[in-house]
Amino acid sequence: MSTLCFFRLRDLWSTIPFFLFALIASTLCSGAEKSTRSIQLDDASAAETLLRLPGFDLRSRPDLLTQLDRYLKHNQGTTRYFQLVRQFELQERSDELLELSLNREGTTAGTWAAETLVQFGNRDRLELAVQSRDRDRAVAAVKTLASVGDKQARTFLQQTLLENGLSPEALNATAKALARTPQGEQFLAATVASGKLPTSLRFTVANLLHSSAEANHREIAKQHLPLPATKNGTPLPPLHLLVQKSGNAAKGRTLFFTKAECATCHHVSGEGKAVGPELTGIGEKLAKQAIYTAILDPSAAISHNYENHEVITDDGKVETGILLSASDGRIEIKNSEGIVRSFDASSIESFRPLSTSLMPAGIEEKLTTAELIDLVEYLAQLKTSR
Ligand code: HEC
Repeated sequence: MSTLCFFRLRDLWSTIPFFLFALIASTLCSGAEKSTRSIQLDDASAAETLLRLPGFDLRSRPDLLTQLDRYLKHNQGTTRYFQLVRQFELQERSDELLELSLNREGTTAGTWAAETLVQFGNRDRLELAVQSRDRDRAVAAVKTLASVGDKQARTFLQQTLLENGLSPEALNATAKALARTPQGEQFLAATVASGKLPTSLRFTVANLLHSSAEANHREIAKQHLPLPATKNGTPLPPLHLLVQKSGNAAKGRTLFFTKAECATCHHVSGEGKAVGPELTGIGEKLAKQAIYTAILDPSAAISHNYENHEVITDDGKVETGILLSASDGRIEIKNSEGIVRSFDASSIESFRPLSTSLMPAGIEEKLTTAELIDLVEYLAQLKTSR
């Protein structure tokens, strides 16, 4: 038995059960003592054994490294996974950690993955993901960074909020993430008071500050971000109060197909026009709060495949609408009247996605608060599984 091997075993002897000692002895010393018949450990036992050997030079044992690699691949996101990755500082797993932190954002595993990345000095990977063109990825990156929760993460999110270039979804997620800490909320209030808040955040931040526990933050909101006025001139109550109210769904249905003009763009159970998404099962997909946000701040979160685009042709025609297809040298978009326009790519001067929804803002101006509540009640009870 080599000296190193002996030294380590002596350290361990008193601290662990015998059967583990035997396993460790066989693993650790099989390389050192060629004549000893080594017991072949399965991947899980090898991982368990390694866990009890802090400081073990894993790189000197490619066979164990391979076993560990297999084990980690099959046990991604488990407590053991993070213990091992951290203990042996497996920097080479940073790509995997990044994907874990984004794909499992909002879970323990996602948060631990983000924290491990930061611990490895790879915070920039998360920060870069915030700039991703994939909206869901950017939003997940914002949330996962916020879950790291340290001062540096907060500073980064604060800077991000003031810089242009993020999608409305990522920007809104940033504001919401900041509002979850007193320091972050303080920053939002100060940004509002100094007039630096990006316009696309007005509705979100208004609601955050109007429902703040801090009286002076509510005051700043009242002064600088009054909630939009409804038809009879009274300002809309903040979201956290609206969601507590119940309305009359039958009246809401009538509004949907008449005065509120929703059916000029949405269909429910085959009735109405299909410019925007079908709302037949919307009560299952969205909670009341999200339905209110979809109506009152349409650009804050734009449904997938309904992104608004703008086409400008060589002869100066401007058309905006939802992209239906872009192939074979043609671009087809559907405008807010539901009319499909087809353009030859060679006649297009510019084509770009817009960050504003095709759904008009300001719908609340056509309705009273009570009518809005009825409308949302109607949508909230639209469920397909009944
Ligand atoms: C000019 C067309 C238009 C009108 C009018 C319109 N919408 Fe929309 N709506 C859209 C489009 C396009 C989307 C998808 C893009 C987005 O999410 O902003 C959408 C999205 C939505 C969503 C989110 C759907 C989802 O699956 O996430 C809801 C809810 C909604 N609208 C409700 C309404 C209600 C209620 C009204 C009437 C007060 C209304 N809309 C009026 C075009 C319209």
